[in-house]
Formats: sequence, C-alpha cells, structure tokens
Amino acid sequence: MRSVINFNQDWLYAPRTIALTAPDSDFTPVTIPHSNALLPHHNFDVSDYAFISTYRKRFSLPESVGRRRVFLDFDGVMTACEVHLNGQRLGEHDGGYIPFSFDITEHLRSGENVLQVWVDSTEREDIPPFGYVIDYLTFGGIYRDVKLRYVEPVYIKNAFVRTQAVMSAEPKAELDLWIHNHLPDAVEVAVNWICDYEAREDGPIRAALEDPIEARVHLPPMDTIRYTCPLDVTTAKRWSLDDPQLVDCEILLSAFLGANTAEDRMAIRFGLREAVFRPDGFYLNGEKINLRGLNRHQMYPYIGIAAPERLQRKDADIVKDELGCNIVRTSHYPQSPHFLDRCDEIGLLVFEEIPGWQFIGDSDWKALALRDLQAMIERDRNHPSIILWGARINESWDDDALYRATNELARELDPTRQTGGVRYFQESTFLEDVFTFNDFSNTIVAPKHTPHLVTEFSGHMFPTKSFDNEERQVEHALRHARIQNAAAGRADVTGAIGWCAFDYNTHIEFGSGDRVCYHGVMDMFRLPKIAAYVYASQIDPEQRIVLRPGTFYAFGDRDNYGANCDFDFYVFSNCDEIEVVIGDESMGRFQPDREHFGHLPHPPFKVGDGQLWHTRRLRVPDGKITGFYQGQAVAEVPLATDKLPRALTLSADDAELRADGIDMTRLAFQLVDKFGMRLPHAHAVVTFDIEGPAELIGVNPFPLVGGQAALFLKAKQTAGTVRIRATAQPYGFTAETEVNIG
Ligand code: GAL
Repeated sequence: MRSVINFNQDWLYAPRTIALTAPDSDFTPVTIPHSNALLPHHNFDVSDYAFISTYRKRFSLPESVGRRRVFLDFDGVMTACEVHLNGQRLGEHDGGYIPFSFDITEHLRSGENVLQVWVDSTEREDIPPFGYVIDYLTFGGIYRDVKLRYVEPVYIKNAFVRTQAVMSAEPKAELDLWIHNHLPDAVEVAVNWICDYEAREDGPIRAALEDPIEARVHLPPMDTIRYTCPLDVTTAKRWSLDDPQLVDCEILLSAFLGANTAEDRMAIRFGLREAVFRPDGFYLNGEKINLRGLNRHQMYPYIGIAAPERLQRKDADIVKDELGCNIVRTSHYPQSPHFLDRCDEIGLLVFEEIPGWQFIGDSDWKALALRDLQAMIERDRNHPSIILWGARINESWDDDALYRATNELARELDPTRQTGGVRYFQESTFLEDVFTFNDFSNTIVAPKHTPHLVTEFSGHMFPTKSFDNEERQVEHALRHARIQNAAAGRADVTGAIGWCAFDYNTHIEFGSGDRVCYHGVMDMFRLPKIAAYVYASQIDPEQRIVLRPGTFYAFGDRDNYGANCDFDFYVFSNCDEIEVVIGDESMGRFQPDREHFGHLPHPPFKVGDGQLWHTRRLRVPDGKITGFYQGQAVAEVPLATDKLPRALTLSADDAELRADGIDMTRLAFQLVDKFGMRLPHAHAVVTFDIEGPAELIGVNPFPLVGGQAALFLKAKQTAGTVRIRATAQPYGFTAETEVNIG
C-alpha cells in the first residue's frame, strides 16, 4: 500500500557548507518549514540570507520497504539544492517554487540513514526569477514540507479531473490517471474509483471501494501510461464562491503480480464549476462576477517565506473574510499548496503564475520557465479555485516563440482553463486567452484586447505606511476605491486585482530603502491600513456588517485636508446609511457616495462639508458613528478626541496549536485609545515574557511604531499551556493571552 509520511521533524541545520563527514555537533536542530535565517522585519540585507547552508537528517525507515519504491518529496526549497543520501549523490534541483522528488529506494539502508542537503539560497542568475533585478526578496531554506512516500512498484503518478459541460443537465468529468509500472514485466491492473458524494449515503469511501472492479488496464514494463476513467458527476453539487462544494475522489489501483495483488490508493479533491472569461466579463457557473482582488506575496516578517500550514491558510482567510476579495493573484510564482487548499475550501478564486519578473534569460533559463509551468499545472490543476494560468514572466517583453510554447503547453496540460500572461503594455502579441494587464494609469484604460483583466494597479504609484498621516492613508484608500470602481464600471474589463494585499520585503532598488515595499492595504503583519477598509466594506452586509472610520479623528492637523480648514472624513461601511454624532449633537445622516463610486457594491461615505471644523471651535467632545442597515442601527464606532494611549492589546489568532515543533500563530498587539481604537502615531517599546512550551519569533523587545505589529508564537514538541505577557513602556500597560499546545 501507499504511505505518505510527514518528514518535517528532526532535521539538523548549519548556516554554511558542511562536509558529509563532519560531526552532528556542527549543526543545530530545526523543524521544516525552515528559514535559513531569522531576520528583523525590515532593515536587513540580502546577504543576510543569500548563502549556502546545510541540512542533515538521520532516520530509520518508519515502515519496511518490501517490494515498494520509496520517494523523498520536497514541496519547495529556495533556491537550488544538492541532495545526498548515505554518502551517495541523489541529484540536484534548481528553482525554489515547485516541488521535486527523488526515488531513494536503491540508496536506503536497513539501519540508520543519513540525508544531507546543501541549499544554495544565492540569487542564481541561471534560475528564474533571477538574472535582472526583482522587486521582492526570495529568502532561503527548506521552506515547504518534506514527505517520505512509499508506493507499490505499480502506482499512480498523477491524477487530473477534467470537468465538462458543467452547466448542462448532464455534467461530465473524466479522471486522467498517469499509471507507472516500475516492473521489468508487463502487468494487468484493475482500476476502481469513487467520489465521496456517491459514497456519503452508504458510508465511508473505503467500503464503497470494495465494490466490483471498474476497469482493467494493461501496462507495458517500465513505462507510464495515461488512462482515463469516466466519473459520474450528475448529482454532484457545483463549487461556487458562497458554497464551495468539494468532491473527494479516491482511486484504487490493484496490480496482479502472480499470486499477489499490489494496491495503490490515492485521494484527490476537485470541484465542479464552470469558470470562463468572455469579452464582456468573467462568468462562474453562468453568473457574471466582477473580479475584485489583491496580489499576494508569500513572505512574512522574521521567517521570510517559511510559513507553516496554519499561517498559509490564514492568509487565504484574511484575503476573503477580512478583505472581502473574490480573487487573489499569487504574484509572482506558484504558492503553498496549503494556501491553495484553503482557497478551494472557502471559495476564493486564484490566478496563479510562473516565477519571474521583467526578465527573460537564455535558452536554458527559458527551459526552466517551461518546466516551472509544467510543474505548476501538474501540481495544481485539480484546484477549483484556480481559474487562470499565468503563462508569461510577469511584465517581461514579448517573446513570441517562448510564449507560444508556454501557452501551447498550458493548454495541453489543462484544456479546461484559460491562460493569461501579465504585461504592462497593451501593444503586445496577444497569445493568451485573457489579456492580463498591469494598469498603473491611476484609472482604468480602455482595453485593446478582450477579455481584459487588470492584474495590478496603485502599488509604487502611491506607497503608504500604516503610520503615515491620515491624508496619505485616505488618498491611498480612495485610489483603490476609484480604480476598483472604474474597473467595475466597464463592461469590457472583467475586474481588477490591486497591488497589493500585504507590505513585503524587497531589494534596495525598490521600496522605502528599509527593504520594505509599503504597497499593501495591510502591513506586513497583516494588520489593516485605511485602504483595507475599502475592500472589507464590500462584503455582503448579510454576512458581516463592516463600519470603519477612515479617520484618526485628530482635529489639529491641517495638512490633512488642505488650507480650507474643512474637516471632511470618510467612513468605509456596507451599511445603507450612517449617522455621525459629536458630543450630543448629530452632524446628520450620510449616504454612500454613489455619485463617485456608484459601481462599487458599497461606496465610501463622505462626512462633512466643513461642519466638523466649526464644531471643533466649540471644543470637540468624543464622537460616535452609527451604521444603519435596512432601517436598524447595526453597528457603532466611538471616536475619542483625547488621542492618548490608554491600553495595550494582545491577541493570538488561534487558541490551540499542534505540538509539532513548527505550528505557529500570530500574536498581534496594538496601542489603543480609551475606546480601543489603534493610535497610528503611538510609539512604545513592547516587551514580551513567555511561559510554557512555545517560542516567540520576532524582535523582543519590539520598538513599536504606528501603534500595531505582531510576533509569531511557535509550538515546541510538548503539550501544555503557554502564557504570553506584554508590557508597553513608557506607559506601563500590560496585556496577556494564552495558547494551548496539544
Ligand atoms: C509592478 C510589478 C510588481 C510590483 C509593482 C509595484 O510593476 O509587477 O511586482 O513591483 O510593480 O507597484
């Protein structure tokens, strides 16, 4: 039978090249996913992580091998590596964003085995995305999961469910299996498959698999064949954004080896949906959906790109639930399988693309780009959330031969999805199905080609820090609102994906010099700037009421609104109406600004016309914003005028972590006013104390700027309760939280 075993624990690490013969004492113990360097969240240099490091793992086989083959599967190692087992070289892999495997069967020993991996995290010009400058950091290490996989000598290599005629009365699906026979003789196999909606009523899938064999296949020796099974999906529910129904499919392969049968079972998951870009819009299951989204880089403060499953999944939740997006672009490379799994589960659409940035290298480099495309599609084509393959290097020049080849390959590997290819000029050979365009015009230009999707806007045109003044933060927010509004208003634009969701680390050639691009609607800690509320407020009010002031409610800072001394402010909300009360006096009720933002489901509210400024002369008391939905008051936000820090808050995203040595949660902290609102100009030193089986990842004490930041809490391998206590000086505020490790 097949076994897939988590191989993340009990590795050794050294931040330099270590000989095979060197003792273990040259290393320190680590758990995968691992970053080759822990860094501050800004003000560090590429040289702090761009070096060669060594990983070692001693292991005895957890199961006996028998006639099975054993593979070592790496989900991602940045940027290149060379792998040795028991002193023998297994091979190397170049490229940090795709998975790779080694068949280690012939190299295994019955007692202890020693695996050693040299990881080259330098910016290798021969490997995409390198060769020119790039606007992001790649970091280094064995940063995605490692697994040990046992399979029978006749096994399934890959499986792909192609759905067809999804909107017809008789939807169809075919399951393509790539079956490999590693034996020197031809063999007969029986293939059986079952989908969970077929089995749900009668019990578990495994029971259903005892049913009679469905198909017989003849396999030649030492070869891989493709075999297609029809799936009955007539009664399967469709996958949609509001009801993301997934279908689990289990495949059983029984190979007849003389008197024995070798069984290989494999589970996959897919969704039944029709996703198509047409010249007049994007349609999901026949319904036209205006795409509204953000780009996501995979990096985090301190840990670079080595984020474990929980943090990966959390990012998808943030983009969908906190930012109300219906699409995310995995700029500029294939991202974690955990992130994509969560997008499937919650109904968040994905545009995934190959690694690269504004540069195309020589023919060997191009071969790697084609290999990356193939690996991305073969890994990810069962994800219903993915609706478009990015078959171009982001913002590269036209290379018709290369991009004919990438498009042809993408269509051959996945005839069910359209292709895109991101550029920033419209005078380009349109070889893809969808013209995916980075539009930095500060509005939406008329498309030259349709279907047309805006894949970036804003970004470097208006970088904004979470601690910038209100005027800048509001203008940042309004740019996102204006451009999303303009995109939604054009019938020939399918939607817009803004740059970007989260601030990210970058090279000195970009960003603010401290190695950060402050382009996110959230900061690097995934905490909101005012622009985040533009997105959040587009959420359906039936799902969640959102009422967020786009103001710090500070009355003296005339830079904020120019010389006319008006004090208008914006409120971002999905309510129908809001009322602003200052002290006991109502400033009146306000409606969404449909005149300027009429294409957004929930336009911002503009409050003011100078009234508040005049009120201020009478000494401004505390205020209050009330949100009304369908005539009822449904939300209230108090506004404090004294602007003094009154408390420190500390919260963990998760109450429970797994005791596996790598599970992590975010610990967010804020300095707040008397009503609990963040003070964006509050600076303090926050010190953390921890008790229990976990480790703090981050800078401690943390010199807080901008009133908010986060650390991570990483579980150790023992169970227990962890207590974290934070103290903010010079104020002396304290805050506490608890997390259980189990
Ligand atoms: C684009 C590029 C992105 C990012 C962005 C900043 O040109 O594709 O990766 O650099 O600019 O605005």
